[in-house]
Amino acid sequence: MADSEVIAGLDIGTDRIRVLVAEYNTRGKLVVSGWGESRSEGMRKGIVVNIEAAREAVLKAVEAAEHEAGRTVTELWTALGGASVDSLNSRGVVAVSGKNREIGEVDVERVLDAARAVVIPMDRDILHVLPQEYIIDDQGGVRNPMDMIGVRLEAEVHIVTASVSAIKNIEKAIERADYKLGDVVLGTLAAARALLNEDEKEMGVLMIDIGASSTDFILVHGGAPRVTGSVPVGGAQASSDLSIVLKTSLDSAERIKCESGCCWDALADAEEPVIIPGVGGRPPVPVPVTDLCRILQPRMEEIFRIVRRKIEKTSGNAGISGGVVLTGGGALLPGVADVASGVFNQPVRLGHPRSSVEWPDYCRDSRWSTAAGLILLGDTVNSGGNNGENTAHAEDSFNPLKGLMNWLGEFF
Ligand SMILES: Nc1ncnc2c1ncn2[C@@H]1O[C@H](COP(=O)(O)OP(=O)(O)OP(=O)(O)O)[C@@H](O)[C@H]1O
Ligand SMILES: [Mg+2]
Repeated sequence: MADSEVIAGLDIGTDRIRVLVAEYNTRGKLVVSGWGESRSEGMRKGIVVNIEAAREAVLKAVEAAEHEAGRTVTELWTALGGASVDSLNSRGVVAVSGKNREIGEVDVERVLDAARAVVIPMDRDILHVLPQEYIIDDQGGVRNPMDMIGVRLEAEVHIVTASVSAIKNIEKAIERADYKLGDVVLGTLAAARALLNEDEKEMGVLMIDIGASSTDFILVHGGAPRVTGSVPVGGAQASSDLSIVLKTSLDSAERIKCESGCCWDALADAEEPVIIPGVGGRPPVPVPVTDLCRILQPRMEEIFRIVRRKIEKTSGNAGISGGVVLTGGGALLPGVADVASGVFNQPVRLGHPRSSVEWPDYCRDSRWSTAAGLILLGDTVNSGGNNGENTAHAEDSFNPLKGLMNWLGEFF
């Protein structure tokens, strides 16, 4: 089977590595046929810190997905997030060069090139240039400037940069596992593809992916990404808080959080005790769920407050009247939507992969959003959403980021 007929998405998280494999059925419909999950090893805050451990964990997850799908995979669409990515908004201006001042592909390429001509540190490279809007002779709000008439063409773009060494190390771990690094995509961009609907993206929506070690976010407004970023705090810190306050091991705290945790008082049953195992031979202690709530709620609130501050600093006028969408494993904590709603003063929903593809039960929950989004992006490319020119694969061994995925702007 040709490569393009099998799409594999790899989400390398700090807690788990998740892989989805999808293929086209005889009617040309995309079907998810395999999934694999492994405990993440060799990663810290989205960055590979031990290549051999990361290789083994990737291999385990991909092999499980291959086995389930009955297919072999060669190339892995891979999501990147956490501390290794950064972003900024930029603007480019060019004079329209086409015949009769008709804006053509070359002008659009030139204006995007002009917009991406920003100074970035030596150890970073541009991952995506995402057009927000075009301005033709001071007339703003143009989504697609092709074939329009004008003298001066401007583009406002959102630029996502990534650490070259972070990508190189992920590439190395993947290659050592005998796979090829495919396109690299900002994780929240992939998840947004799977979770957000057109109305939300138009009105202004904030999507927050609460992972283990980081909370990544994307604000989409007017159909385009306006702010993307990451906060180096996630579900692991909430578990650590429980462990410290309840004086129990980190493993017990993590289990208690996932099985009985709650971060919104009104949802917690004051009568319901949770047994906290003691350490060092101390006896177990029963604690009411409301006590867990008192520990978890401030932590979740703090995470959302930091996200809000970061957005207020950079978003300008971009509002979020389309609400907030939560995803990632941390979104499974009962009450988290109520906490977010209080902080952002917005309606909040939990994001699950949307129904354009029939998602099997196992990947319907929020932990699979990023891998699901990668599959959908792969499908967009296969069905011609890609203009072909701007998608570079990691075959370019000199610079794995060169030209990557500029076309992503088209799906927004
Ligand atoms: N049922 C649950 N209730 C509460 N928290 C949960 C639940 N299931 C998972 N989590 C938390 O979700 C976090 C893991 O989420 P996820 O799998 O999205 O992270 P990751 O992608 O591996 O990490 P990162 O994105 O930070 O690299 C952990 O902190 C875990 O405790
Ligand atoms: Mg994650």
